[in-house]
Amino acid sequence: MLNEKMQAALNGQLNAELYSSYLYLSMSAYFQSMSLDGFANWMRIQAQEELVHTMKFYDYIGERDAKVTLTAVEGPPTEWDSPAAAFAHVYKHEQKVTSLINQLVNLAIEEKDHACNNFLQWFVSEQVEEESSANNVVQKLKLMGDAPGGLFIIDQELATRIFTPPPTTGK
Ligand code: FEO
Repeated sequence: MLNEKMQAALNGQLNAELYSSYLYLSMSAYFQSMSLDGFANWMRIQAQEELVHTMKFYDYIGERDAKVTLTAVEGPPTEWDSPAAAFAHVYKHEQKVTSLINQLVNLAIEEKDHACNNFLQWFVSEQVEEESSANNVVQKLKLMGDAPGGLFIIDQELATRIFTPPPTTGK
């Protein structure tokens, strides 16, 4: 059983993961409207991954005999100044999510909930990857600068991203 504090905090993170999915799907629509299909693909897969994160919280709360409470998800922005601005937003957003996960770990330690701390460690590792993959594209866009065709080359690369659900989410 989760205590009330942990239950509220995990439900809060479930909402934050849903918002992340909504944000990236909005970015996917933005890129689609610019005919940058590779960028749109990357964001669409990112949105799917955030749903996997959401369901990990959903299932874990249930496993601990606690109650999932779904609340309103904030509307995401729908426009960005440029592809670089959108990816800078992704990187910043992932840094914010990392800080939310770290706060959850701190709470689990404070509440002496070792099982929850153990569950959260998957997200600690995942956030390293999340920040790194976003920053990778940020850096590529910086390197490209105003080079002709640069956006097209990155678009082709981002088109190759495939969604692979992690084996641990078999429910
Ligand atoms: Fe759910 Fe992108 O972290």
